Amino acid sequence: MRVVMVGTGYVGLVTGTCLAEVGHDVSCVDLSEEKIRLLKDGVCPIFEPGLENMIRRNAEHERLQFTTSLAEPLAQADMAFIAVGTPEGEDGSADLKYVKAVAESLGRLINKDMVVVVKSTVPVGTCDIVEEIIDRELDRRQVKHQVIVASNPEFLKEGDAIADFMKPDRVVVGLNDFTAETAFRDLYRPFIMDDQGKLLLMDRRSSELTKYGANAMLATRISFMNEMALLCERLGANIDKVRLGIGSDARIGRKFLYAGPGYGGSCFPKDVSALLKTSNVHGVELKVLNAVTDANERQKNLVFQKIAQHFRDLSGRRVAVWGLSFKPGTDDVRESPAKVLIQRLLDAGAFVVGHDPQGQANFAKEFGEHERLTYAESAYDALRGADALALVTEWSEYKRPNWDKVGQMMANRAVFDLRNQYESYDLISRGFHYECVGRPDSRSLPI
Ligand SMILES: NC(=O)c1ccc[n+]([C@@H]2O[C@H](COP(=O)([O-])OP(=O)(O)OC[C@H]3O[C@@H](n4cnc5c(N)ncnc54)[C@H](O)[C@@H]3O)[C@@H](O)[C@H]2O)c1
Repeated sequence: MRVVMVGTGYVGLVTGTCLAEVGHDVSCVDLSEEKIRLLKDGVCPIFEPGLENMIRRNAEHERLQFTTSLAEPLAQADMAFIAVGTPEGEDGSADLKYVKAVAESLGRLINKDMVVVVKSTVPVGTCDIVEEIIDRELDRRQVKHQVIVASNPEFLKEGDAIADFMKPDRVVVGLNDFTAETAFRDLYRPFIMDDQGKLLLMDRRSSELTKYGANAMLATRISFMNEMALLCERLGANIDKVRLGIGSDARIGRKFLYAGPGYGGSCFPKDVSALLKTSNVHGVELKVLNAVTDANERQKNLVFQKIAQHFRDLSGRRVAVWGLSFKPGTDDVRESPAKVLIQRLLDAGAFVVGHDPQGQANFAKEFGEHERLTYAESAYDALRGADALALVTEWSEYKRPNWDKVGQMMANRAVFDLRNQYESYDLISRGFHYECVGRPDSRSLPI
């Protein structure tokens, strides 16, 4: 299958590379000349474990190409994917300007029958809009081609993106014209060899909504567990015991039940917001999902309050923040919980030293400069003279610190473990002030 991937970001690049890995012929297109130049040189512009090697291997075998020009690869393609960003607009809805721009380019350039696949996360009805734009452009050019627009949302997780794509739980495809079914079966067969039933065919609207429903459900689990954690702190229970007790029920399952600093990232906040916007527009109040966002905002505030309450006055205090990316295994810092915490700490007059194994450069670029915000070369350097350590992202390299060294480097031994990683080290008996989330040794705070 000859595929054009329009948008070579976290999703487009992984999708394109994995499709090439199983033998498809893929051209990745992006507006960013810098990104395409790096990729042509075999350098992966994002951090995603295993991706750079896979890119090089497939580029060497000439199954994977990179270009800024859509016209040439499109002329040969059977399928064109739209994998551009759909960021949160000012009113909370998904901003479709990049998707619409690609649809216009496709309409201006398509010169054969083909399938256009909307991979971006888009509100229900967007495939209809893409179809209208393409048809309008084809009409304007007075050409007739059969263009089938399909929805094919992506469920990969940054940090595990290759494994998720290569061995998906399911592949969702939304079609109004099922003549494209064979093309999708050909495309995805190698990824679902164990069970071809994993290809879930449905109508386009159901497919578009499935993606939002999945992210909203996952965000709900996190907010629910954060509220349970709050209750644990008040009642002297331990959220990790409760998590195991709840998650061992097969109807519930163990994943996505971790209390922490609130959900963030490039998908959950914007997708929950977009779904709420869609539901408002259609006069359906989503009471549960509204509460999920409220609980998340409260959680982000509570983790700051833990630190603020301990010091009473944060002005002039020095706080080391370990973890700036929104989760381990990625350099993506969009809507990272560290952003909110650091902003609150700076507003309260603290000095902040950030560290992240991969996300530091992106964080510095997105957050901007502040006279009291600096970055450290190593995790330990960040602790020099610090009054507090806040663990925000549970990267492997933070999992087993040398606590003697940590204690020696800090001016005050206060550890705020926002990912519940350090309970087993018994930091209190080692002379640290230790707080985590939802455990008996975590102090409960007024809401
Ligand atoms: N990041 C994730 O983990 C993830 C997971 C599932 C779904 N999604 C969804 O996938 C979509 C893409 O997300 P992402 O994280 O890959 O975004 P991204 O910002 O990393 O990548 C988007 C890319 O599209 C390029 N682009 C924009 N307009 C273009 C155009 N006209 N022609 C060519 N390239 C263009 C940008 O330069 C950028 O490189 C979003 O809708 C997102 O919600 C993301």
